This record gives sequence, C-alpha cells and structure tokens, in this order.
Amino acid sequence: MNIAGVKWLPGHFGPQEQSRLLELVRAAVRQAPLFQPVMPRSGKPLSVRMTNMGRLGWLSDRAGYRYQQTHPVTGNPWPEMPQMLLELWHEVSGYAHPPEACLVNFYEASARMGLHQDRDEEDLEAPVVSVSLGDTAVFRIGGLERKSPTSSIRLQSGDVVVMGGDSRLCFHGIDRVVPGTSALLKDGGRINLTLRRVTRP
Ligand code: SIN
Ligand code: FE2
Repeated sequence: MNIAGVKWLPGHFGPQEQSRLLELVRAAVRQAPLFQPVMPRSGKPLSVRMTNMGRLGWLSDRAGYRYQQTHPVTGNPWPEMPQMLLELWHEVSGYAHPPEACLVNFYEASARMGLHQDRDEEDLEAPVVSVSLGDTAVFRIGGLERKSPTSSIRLQSGDVVVMGGDSRLCFHGIDRVVPGTSALLKDGGRINLTLRRVTRP
C-alpha cells in the first residue's frame, strides 16, 4: 500500500515472527540497555528510550545527533544486527548493500515523536525500513517541507514501513500510542525498529 509515497506493508510479520523479533530485541537490551536520549543544546529528554543494534547506532545528546559505534553509557559496541532484520532489509529495501544501524525506540503509553526528517545518513539512496511491535501508533506522514500537508495511518504490531525514493526525506512522526491494542508486550507500550544504511558503500 502507498501512502504519500511511503510503502506500507500491514501485517508483514505474523504473531510468531513478532514474538521472535521481541526476543531478539530483549537480548539486545540486556547487552545494550535502553538509554534516555536528550535534545541537542537544550538537554530536554525525548519521550522515547532507545538503544541500537548493528555496527553503528544513532543517538541524540547535548552535543547533537549522530551515529557512533559504541553505547553512550556502557561504552561497548552495539549488539549484532539480527539475521532476521538483514533478511527483511534484503526483501523490502530494493538496496544492494546491508543496513548498518537498527535503532530501537521504546514508547511508553505517553510517548510520542515530533515531526522530523531522517537525514543524519550520508547515503540517502538507501531507504529507511521500520518495523512496529506492540501497541498501535498513529504515524503522521507529510512531505518534504515541515509545512506540507500530512496524513496519518495506524501502524499495528507486525507492520513494516519503507521510506525510500521520493519519500526518503518526508517529514514524519508519531502522534501517539494507543494503549491496550496489542498483547505482545506484557506491560503495553510500543517498540519501533528502524533500519538504516548510514555510510556510502
Ligand atoms: C522514527 O521516525 O524515528 C520512529 C518512527 C516510528 O516510531 O514508527
Ligand atoms: Fe524518523
């Protein structure tokens, strides 16, 4: 399905695959605990907590947005990118080289993500591929300018979104998470996995 140039694959992962992905995320979080990112300069906390898998991880702190090879708190390299996510990328990205980063965002019931563009990558030829797990989220998609008109879709557990081509730099964000919409996470909330190619091959 195509929404504002973004490819939406509802229910791409079935319940068993969602549970497997959740296990992989839990294993990664044991090794690389969720941390609380803050906004550059202001130091205001984002409402999501995050960690990463893969060679590079994205983070935000007072010094700015960036990718780095180590966890900001433990100083250790990020856990490996799971095979299952490499396979997803291969299947849906239409891009020949593997992703280098998988950002893991954890949303509590009250968390949200303001409209933004993903533009910290050198390689903008590769799409951004994202997976939703847990409670449904209201995902807002706009155009190439902050003031462009937007539309919204409800991303459910197992859905995959591919932002590539003309939609690669679209503004997007999460308006809210809808509590009680999935039983995958025992205590509710939502996990979003975002796969990205960072460097030019
Ligand atoms: C993001 O744009 O970083 C996250 C999108 C999502 O949570 O679905
Ligand atoms: Fe994003």
